[in-house]
Amino acid sequence: MLSSLALLPAIAGLIPSVSAAALSVNAQKIEDRTITPLTCLFFGDIVSPWWLNKCKPHLDLVVIDLRSAAEYAVSHIPGSISAPFEPISAWSQMGPGDLLLELPEYNDLAAFLGSIGVSNSPSATKIVLVNGVDVPAFPQAASPRVATTLKFAGLSEGRVAVLDGGFPAWATESLPITTEVPVLVPRTFVSAPDTSFLVDINYVASKINKNKQGIFLIDGRDQAVYNGSVMEDWALKPGHIPSAKNLPAQKIWNPDGSYKSTFELLSLLREQIGYSASRSYGEIIVYCGVGGYASSWYFVLTRILGFGSNVKFFDGSAQQWSQFYDMEL
Ligand SMILES: *[C@@H]1O[C@H](CO)[C@@H](O)[C@H](O)[C@H]1NC(C)=O
Repeated sequence: MLSSLALLPAIAGLIPSVSAAALSVNAQKIEDRTITPLTCLFFGDIVSPWWLNKCKPHLDLVVIDLRSAAEYAVSHIPGSISAPFEPISAWSQMGPGDLLLELPEYNDLAAFLGSIGVSNSPSATKIVLVNGVDVPAFPQAASPRVATTLKFAGLSEGRVAVLDGGFPAWATESLPITTEVPVLVPRTFVSAPDTSFLVDINYVASKINKNKQGIFLIDGRDQAVYNGSVMEDWALKPGHIPSAKNLPAQKIWNPDGSYKSTFELLSLLREQIGYSASRSYGEIIVYCGVGGYASSWYFVLTRILGFGSNVKFFDGSAQQWSQFYDMEL
């Protein structure tokens, strides 16, 4: 039997004989077939560049570019607005005891969201977050961190998505880019903070050494930091919070910055906690150095793997813990 690969050169040879006009008509037909109203009604937690490009004109969408102002200036998605995710920015603040990257004050955050055109009215603005991609995966972590911040702001989770693979994926697919900066149309953002998923250091202290009861701490830092062979600047002691399991956030993404599959992500989790915690029983508390990687696992657990209110977020993370308690090696 002739392998289909053997046919490729023959097919390629045919293409020059087809006129460019005919090809573009075919391309048009394919696009018409694949875009339906339902395609844009379904707003997932992770959206593809293709989906965003197609559906942007059909939805009340705010596309927020979290990369640096310099990267945004070079090129960005048409209509996207620049709101860089930086340790000192509208997305975070310094907490008590110089805690880095704490969630901002609710009123400041609400005013900021309104100023960049995000409304919480029933007309329901949807938000797509766009990050850069690098090693280590700090840029990748920016989108889930901001998604977590928007949950705190009271935006229902079904209204916030991240762009899979970030801006590099958009650029790789040769979708339109621009240097034009859109005019911001401020709106009113009125909501109430959602603090239901936030836990403090005393809460965490009451939950250590309870793995047998299905209560787990997940440390999102790299293995060398978790095991104490490397220390980060912000933790006062090496090691991890006693009884915590290590799940480096770096493993959430493929090298190109796209999200690993649901199956792969669930397998990573099960390798660490087995089946002692699930969507309906037990508890998982996520933390890391200062809260960035912890948000990434918070996003994966609640938005991709379907865990719910039994996932908690410790924003103070290792930085705060190490100021008051011993770490384990
Ligand atoms: C800690 O983790 C690093 C990085 O994976 C590894 O090279 C090192 O051997 C580990 N050290 C201990 C004591 O487990």
